[in-house]
Order: sequence, then C-alpha cells, then structure tokens
Amino acid sequence: GDTKVPMSRLEKDVYINYQRIEDNLAIVRERLKRPLTLSEKIVYGHLDDAVNQDIERGVSYLRLRPDRVACQDATAQMALLQFMSAGMDTAAVPTTVHCDHLIEAQVGGVKDLARAININKEVYDFLATATAKYGLGFWKPGSGIIHQIILENYAFPGGLMIGTDSHTPNAGGLGMVACGVGGADAVDVMADLPWELKCPKVIGVNLTGKIGGWTTPKDVILKVAGILTVKGGTGAIVEYKGSGVESLSCTGMATICNMGAEIGATTSLFPFNERMASYLTATSRADIADYARKFAHNLKADEGAEYDQVIEINLSELEPHINGPFTPDLATPISKLAAEAKKNNWPEEIKVGLIGSCTNSSYEDMSRSASLVNEALAAGLELKSKFTVTPGSEQVRATIARDGQLDSFEKAGGIVLANACGPCIGQWDRKDVKKGEPNTIVTSYNRNFTGRNDANPATHAFVASPDIVTALAFAGSLSFNPLADSIPTPSGKPFRFSSPSGFELPPRGYDPGENTFQPPPEDRVSVQVKVDPKSDRLQLLKPFGPWDGKDAKEVPVLIKVKGKCTTDHISAGGPWLKYRGHLENISQNMLIGGINAENGEANKVLNQFDGSWGGVPQVAQSYRDAGKKWVVIGDHNYGEGSSREHAALEPRFLGGLAVIARSFARIHETNLKKQGMLALTFADAADYDKIRGTDKLDIVGLTTFAPGKNLKVVVHHENGSTDEIEVAHSYNETQIEWFKAGSALNLMAAKAKA
Ligand code: F3S
Repeated sequence: GDTKVPMSRLEKDVYINYQRIEDNLAIVRERLKRPLTLSEKIVYGHLDDAVNQDIERGVSYLRLRPDRVACQDATAQMALLQFMSAGMDTAAVPTTVHCDHLIEAQVGGVKDLARAININKEVYDFLATATAKYGLGFWKPGSGIIHQIILENYAFPGGLMIGTDSHTPNAGGLGMVACGVGGADAVDVMADLPWELKCPKVIGVNLTGKIGGWTTPKDVILKVAGILTVKGGTGAIVEYKGSGVESLSCTGMATICNMGAEIGATTSLFPFNERMASYLTATSRADIADYARKFAHNLKADEGAEYDQVIEINLSELEPHINGPFTPDLATPISKLAAEAKKNNWPEEIKVGLIGSCTNSSYEDMSRSASLVNEALAAGLELKSKFTVTPGSEQVRATIARDGQLDSFEKAGGIVLANACGPCIGQWDRKDVKKGEPNTIVTSYNRNFTGRNDANPATHAFVASPDIVTALAFAGSLSFNPLADSIPTPSGKPFRFSSPSGFELPPRGYDPGENTFQPPPEDRVSVQVKVDPKSDRLQLLKPFGPWDGKDAKEVPVLIKVKGKCTTDHISAGGPWLKYRGHLENISQNMLIGGINAENGEANKVLNQFDGSWGGVPQVAQSYRDAGKKWVVIGDHNYGEGSSREHAALEPRFLGGLAVIARSFARIHETNLKKQGMLALTFADAADYDKIRGTDKLDIVGLTTFAPGKNLKVVVHHENGSTDEIEVAHSYNETQIEWFKAGSALNLMAAKAKA
C-alpha cells in the first residue's frame, strides 16, 4: 500500500515493510497449505526466497532478511572491525550499538559511569567514530541496557531482528521475532548477506486466567523455565497465546521473552494486542500501533495452527516463584521456599537484593517495588539486606527520578547503579563477602549460573520478580514468605506487606532524561575512525588474502586434537575477552585448551621444522611467518559451544589453511567457511587414526573444488611412508566463492565495488 510508517523515530527513510510479509506468506501458504503459527508468519514473512526455500520445522535452514541489527559494546568491537574490512560505506540494514556491558558497579551510578568512561575510553571512541562513519546509531554509556533501548525505540510488531546478545528476545514483548546471535551473523546482515536460521520448532504456551496480586509476568517465565529446563526450548520459538495474555503489560511480556533465553529458546514471542499499542503510544509511536492494527491478521497465529508442544498455565492459580541457586530452572514456589532452603542448606541470610536490569526495570516494575518500599518505611522498617537498583534505561531512570520512586529506594538505603548491565554480567566489584564464602543474593535478573554476578562460586544467586526481591530484602531471609508472614516492627507491631501495586505506564508520560543518542552525522566522509595503533584492545583488520589457486602441498599438521574441542578450547574467554577487539592479541589464546593427541597435553605441540616444542599459537605463528600454511586435525563435533567468531578468525589470522575433523558443530563450520578456511570431514571417520601430529598433508582437488565432490588428502608420515584418504565437505557454490576470495566479506566487498 501507500502507507509509509517509519521503523523508528530515530532513523530517516527507513520504513516498516509489512507488505513483504504479506507477499511472502501468500507464497508460503500456497506451498504449505496449512494454518501457521505466529512465529512462522513472521519468520517466513522474512524469507529471502519464499518460492524456493525448503521449509520444514526443525530440519531446513532458512535464509532470512532481518529488519535490523543491534550490538552491545563487548561484541560490537570485532563485528564493526570486520564490517569495516569489507570496505562498504553503509550497513545494509539499520543497526545500533549500545554501551552497556563495560560499566562496573562499585559505588553508584554517577561515579561508576565516570570511571567506566575513563577506563574504556578507547573502546567507546572507536565505537562512536565507527558507528558515525558507517551510518549506525550509537547509544553512549549511560543510555541504558541494549534490550530496554530497543524496546523503547526500535522493536515493532512483526519485525525480525538479530542482536549480538543472548537476551535480544526481550523485543518479543512487542511482537518482534528477535534472536541473539554471534558477531559473525551481525556482520553478514550488515554486509547484505542473508541470515541463516534452522527452521524453528514452535512451543505454544497457553495462558488462561488473569495475573494479579503478588504474581507477576516474571513468575510466568520462572514457571516455564521449571517445566522446560535450561535445554527445553532449544531450536524452538516459544509462542505465548490465550486469553491470559490480555492481563499482561507490554513490558511484562518483554520480561517473559527476555528470560526465555534461559531455556535455550531461539526466541519468545507474544501476539500483537492493545497493551502493546499502549506502550507504543507512550513511547511516541502511535503510528506504528495504528499500522499494526491494520495488519493484525498477520500478527497472531492462525486458528488451528499446530505446535510441537503445548504448555498450559492458569495465571489465576500461578504462585510467585523464586528460581535457583546456580541454575534458572530450579523453580520453587514462594510458599515452599523456607522448607527448601532448610532442606538444601542454602544460606538463609540474604546478603543483597538487586532489582532492575534488562529483565525487570520497567516503570511498572519500579513503581510496584517502590510501593512495597514506601509501605515498609512507613511502618518503620529498615532494609535487612543491601539493596541495589539498576534502571534499564536513562528514560526509566529520569522518569522514576521525577515521579519519586528513586527517592523511595534511596530513602530506604538502596544504591542506584548506572543504567547498565553491572552485576548482571559480573561487572560488580563486590566487597561485602570474601571470595569462596557461601552466601545468598536474590535478583530480578535472568541468569544465575555459578559466579555470574560476583565471580564468587559460593554465592547462591536466586532470581525472582522485583516485588519478591524487594520484600525479601526487608526480611533479609529466605524463610520469609511475604504473602503469608509478617515482620516485627520497632514498635513491636507485626507488619505485613499488602500486594504490590504500580502503574503499567507513567501517568505523566516518560521523561526522556539526558540525551544519550548519537545519530550518524550528515557528513560521514570526513569522520575518522579512531583506533590507536598502540592500543592493546583494538586493532584494525586487514582483509585476508585470496586463495593462491593451487592445491596445498606438504602442509604441516599444527595439532591433532583429541576429544572435546569447544569454542572455549579454541578461543578461551575470561581474561582474554579484554582483547576481543584485537585479533593479534586474542590469537595468542588459539587452541590453548585443545588436547594434543601426540602427548595428551594442552598447548604443547611440535614445531615440525625445527623440532622444538612450543605453544600452539607460537608454533602457528612461526609457520605463518615462514610462509607456511598449516592444518588442524579435529575429533567429533569440533567447535561446539558458542558462535564465537574469534574461534574461526584466529586460525585464519595465524595462517591456517584447513581444519579436518571427524565432524563439526555446524555454526563453527560455517564460521570457518566465512573466514576463508577449509572445513573438511573425514569421508571415513576411522581415517582420523591415520594422521599424526608429526605428518604433513597435501590437499588435492582444490582446483576443481565443487559442491558434493570429495577432496583427496595425501598424508606424508615422518618415516617417509604415505597414506591417501578422502575428505568430504559441505560447501555450496557461494561458500566455495568465499574460500577463493579469501573470506565471505572479501566477496561481499568485491560485489559492492562492482
Ligand atoms: Fe545481559 Fe543482564 Fe545486560 S542479561 S544485557 S547482562 S543487564
């Protein structure tokens, strides 16, 4: 139609494309001849080629065209560096970068932010200038947490977004299919490559009844996590439906979708409704609400759509839950908490209660918590636990500062932290307990794995609604059930909390607060991207060289890896994450965790040319510097774990030619292909045993490299004998072009220039 509705208020000339969904679905319906779930409508509505795409849930790989990309500051570094090396001048879809992960909580918002800006200056300067140069939106430190900013400004019903952070699904609260991905996927989409996603299964969660009292949207996902466990959502979109949905606020639905990441789901999603429309209107996007109303038939599931699994939850009967410790799927109803804590020996005293974060920092959350705080203060109570508040965005912070909730928190002795991830991602310089000391904290966050919040493996972290966290912080004990128990006041009179109450949306509207957004400038040509050549955290990337056009001859085996080799073995995290924007420095961790089949040791391999033993990265580097390529031999499921693109960039950077494995984890295999590496598998898995770490290999057949056609490997043993084996591959035509061009980005850059 003629209607043009901007995708956001902050980008010019970018419009919501509902027509594409309509057109794609016309084709897909004709082909599938069955009713569709909402997830399918939005996902298939974004197919790159609806006519020819195989569509089978749980089986086919879909090629999709997302509407937007979002990156947080930790993952954005390498993504932007890679995008820059493609030599394009603008990202293919609207993209934003958010500074939220690098701000450490120490004493409170203002000081912590100032310190972080100082410590991370070179990273922020780089992100600010690179986003300006390439036409991306930049959200400065202090603006808030990526998922809140997305919900407030960019998410829209029926959209498809990828984000380089696991809790990107938060945008499902506004009816968007939003998936957490690795940096490599973000770079692809920014460089106009289709995004590949295994066709998701669909789990339906049917909500009946009405939410109320102490029960909050958070309790829905705490319950679902208990039912499905941390693996139960793998490969599936969790789609909420049913009459109960109407009783949830938009921000509450976002909370549910956010924490869907904890059950491994591809994403979670709600159908468009008037609660979403109210939120869109409150955030100055009434035009999107109107447009979505017109398009509502495609923003809900078809009658009779089939789900791979259905879960029933009656909201009227749902009790508040508290999940943990150490895992988000250990769900305990609040009425059973005291008994469970005793039985399991969880430290009863609650040291700290932490509310807010990307999961639970809406105006509704904050005003409900403040209602409890006010009531307790009026009764003369004091907080028994330390209490922190993390506003999700500058807009929420400014609004609760204006409306008094922040004041209540501070009056009670709460510490207001910066609008950033802080303790949620372990950016917490915690001083009140010693490392190794068992203790309990309760948070309104989403993740509670061992050591996540404060790096203390003995900290028992529980997740709950902000209401429950707040009430427990006044009791200071896991034995307290705010729905049933009372707390003695100084006057001796027992105090019982009333049910929390709050506002879905601020009655006086949102206060935007300080302007923390940097739009791309008009003149981008003159922008200089700032990377200090002396920096140890950032380094510009040079495009990898193209294939030399020849078969490989006598290429040494760098390491023959035995057993499990995850992306953590290939590119370790922890202290190395500091260097994630500096490929040369982070490459010093390449494969240091892999076990060498020759000696059973990690990070000790033979240098085949001088006979010395050295670390894997050091030997690789000396091969590279001598102009020699090398090969890694891998076992089963090589590269499982995460989508970390460094695990593929590093071997390429250090001069690797191929990884030959018994089998690959698919994402890592694709990442290797994208970087111009050969990812090959033994045609006969037993041939793994024919190769030793002291061998040299010829890879024959590259000059006629073609889909479905095996290559030959000649194995030259140390004693002069040889073996000949076949290796298979899964390269398609395009991926073979990637190999020849040196990388997928090289190919995109060449195409952009043509
Ligand atoms: Fe993630 Fe928590 Fe930040 S879940 S986005 S680390 S607030």
